[in-house]
Amino acid sequence: MKSYKKVLQKLGTAIVLLLLVACASTKKQVRIVEDFNQNWNFKLGDFPNAIQSNFNTADWRTLQLPHDWSIEGTFDKDSKTKQAQAFLPAGKGWYRKTFTLPSAWKNKNVSIEFDGVFKNSEVFINGHSLGIRPNGYISFAYELSQYLHFGKQNIIAVKVDNDAQPNSRWYTGSGIYRNVRLVASDKLHVAQWGTYVTTPEVSSVKATVKLEVTIENKAIAEKEFQLETSILDTNNKEVANAKTTEKIGANTNAKKIHNLNVNQPKLWDTKNPNLYKIVTTIYENSKAVDTYETPLGFRFFNFDAEKGFSLNGVPTKILGVCLHHDNGALGAVENIHALKRKLTILKEMGANAIRMSHNPHSLEMMQLCDEMGFIVQAEAFDVWKKKKVANDYSKDWDVWHKQDLEDFIKRDRNHPSVIMWSIGNEIREQFDSTGIAITRELAQIVKSLDKTRPVTSALTENVIEKNFIYQSGALDLLGFNYKHEDYKDFPVRFKGQKILASESVSALETRGHYDFPADVNKMWPPKYNAPFDGNKDWTVSAFDNVASYWGTTHEANWKTIKKQDFMAGTFIWTGFDYLGEPDPYPYPARSSYFGIVDLAGFPKDVYYMYQSEWSKKTVLHIFPHWNWTAGQEVDVWAYYNNADEVELFLNGKSLGKNAKQNDDLHIAWKVKFEPGTLKAVSIKDGKVVLEKEIHTAGTASKIALVGDRQTIQNDGYELVYVTVSITDKDGNLVPNANDLITFEVTGGGKLVGVDNGYQAGLDSFKANSCKVYNGKCIAIIQSNGNKENIQLKASTGNGIAAATIDIKVE
Ligand code: GAL
Repeated sequence: MKSYKKVLQKLGTAIVLLLLVACASTKKQVRIVEDFNQNWNFKLGDFPNAIQSNFNTADWRTLQLPHDWSIEGTFDKDSKTKQAQAFLPAGKGWYRKTFTLPSAWKNKNVSIEFDGVFKNSEVFINGHSLGIRPNGYISFAYELSQYLHFGKQNIIAVKVDNDAQPNSRWYTGSGIYRNVRLVASDKLHVAQWGTYVTTPEVSSVKATVKLEVTIENKAIAEKEFQLETSILDTNNKEVANAKTTEKIGANTNAKKIHNLNVNQPKLWDTKNPNLYKIVTTIYENSKAVDTYETPLGFRFFNFDAEKGFSLNGVPTKILGVCLHHDNGALGAVENIHALKRKLTILKEMGANAIRMSHNPHSLEMMQLCDEMGFIVQAEAFDVWKKKKVANDYSKDWDVWHKQDLEDFIKRDRNHPSVIMWSIGNEIREQFDSTGIAITRELAQIVKSLDKTRPVTSALTENVIEKNFIYQSGALDLLGFNYKHEDYKDFPVRFKGQKILASESVSALETRGHYDFPADVNKMWPPKYNAPFDGNKDWTVSAFDNVASYWGTTHEANWKTIKKQDFMAGTFIWTGFDYLGEPDPYPYPARSSYFGIVDLAGFPKDVYYMYQSEWSKKTVLHIFPHWNWTAGQEVDVWAYYNNADEVELFLNGKSLGKNAKQNDDLHIAWKVKFEPGTLKAVSIKDGKVVLEKEIHTAGTASKIALVGDRQTIQNDGYELVYVTVSITDKDGNLVPNANDLITFEVTGGGKLVGVDNGYQAGLDSFKANSCKVYNGKCIAIIQSNGNKENIQLKASTGNGIAAATIDIKVE
């Protein structure tokens, strides 16, 4: 009898659960959000007639968005984009798509959302211009309803004009390079970015939540409706609810507020990024007519002039990196899987923060930072009214800066990861009095939309009299770029101010390339436009000993910052190499040398310095590789932690023990090279902590393929990054291998990019082959939508055995 009751109870629970799931999914059905990336036609050039219904696109390509046409082009020394934008083409292009909507949508409010189009877009629906948007990083939407045909064909055309060059200091990409969605909602609905959540009180005992909802009524009648706010915890369980009856006039907007309490909230931080969710539902006559989701994280933070930054009351150094928006070989193409890989590599290193340099980043980037626990500095601009390059955003400043800044804040102000708003990077107006009024205006715009986060700006001038952005008095937090030797004076010079090293380092490295001696520091170039003795093959040694003249080595910078408690933290320039800005070299160099990780996603050696300092991992990393000339003197460096000393052995013979002295972050030996095995052993209290070995590699004889996952979804988006290495017969990486690998993909996938991380390579990222660089390259495969397993075959045609790898498709 008892067990019968139990079964009934269990059944009951199951039914309730099923009902809940069903309810949740009906709620989801209410607002229709459709992926609108498929089946676009595209052609380079200018085609104003493409807005017409009878226009013939027979010779246009069909493609899936997001799309970046620049990355498909060839590197050209004479390109108008110049070196800053990787010598890749820009120009004009048009996108066009035909689509039919169900007649049942007639009474709906239909809009199209673009997450970013680079740049100067104009969108046309059935021949009507919906608007222009010069800023290539801003998300925007247009309502289509009044121009649509239902049950019949519609034509949407998008003109993209990235022709006026140069317009950026880094690679931008060209085209509809982020996602596009179609949204159909009831006439009565939550407006675009129509919620604003704040948490006036947060503790682990209780939190208060204030949700402001902007409701739009596009109907011709006044409406009475019920507004429900439901807060779901990390397990999707409702933990708070509010429901009110409201009224809204015909064809108008209204702001409604709900205040709720959550008991014992799980706080959001960088280690446990507990994410809640708010579901807003509008009911008319008890029927749900719209739903809208808002992310929610409970956290509180403080910047202190003496103690730096704290998160949830815990002193926390901001261990950040700056990132540009490109995805290496994919160009500017937005892809959540590419971003996740990037952020995972940085998280493993111990980074807890990202500065989104120097423009609004994608929606997916913000979502991932919420989910993965990164502190975000969101940044609006690299220029204001005064230009940095001929055709940059300064040209659009007067007309667009207010709307762009407002839209930037409105889209991202609900993300718990966003901790500060930067209104600009190294802005020219800091040097003259025009900076005062603009800073005040921008800070006021930000504050009118969000008072919960500090307004900051990344400054270069640290002399008070010369810095007019500082003199405006409108910044809550001072960001300083570079000049780390000056930091020690800041508590006196900027007494009472909250300070962050918004950008630091700008050291230069090529992955896997080593010059000796390593114990000499160099500035390349030593000052503006000065000559320097760079390498003929456009490489820079991966020992952390070469930097730009305005920067410094990673080690010198971190040594300084870690000791200064008043300093909230820093953002290293940069986490990853990026396309463009290949200082210090001219053509053919086309991507940056600043990254801790190369463009293909392979960590450079200094990655392990950060890992040994920033993460909890036990680290022992020795470098360089062990293929040199007999008798040559080789500098051997090691990064390590959680140990007292490291002993080095060459072919079993001890070369002595070494330990970090004073505040040093690495140890070094000078070793006469002989082939064989170099082994390092880290020791604590006389016990072995870790052992690392490097072997002299023999002749190249194998290709090793390692995917970053074994299975992918057949959704047409998911990626697998396959690391390709050339090894000897025993599996040792051949550190100077440069063999050309040809790829062949069969089954449910396609090759969407190849890269070897070499900054001066001129082969296309879109080729079906890639030369390994210093032994390695990457092949990026994307599901093509078919549910067939994928096989990648890699071969050299020079005697090295071909290799294959299988990826399961779900
Ligand atoms: C900084 C600038 C960055 C990048 C960097 C290169 O001054 O803010 O955008 O140009 O220099 O070192």
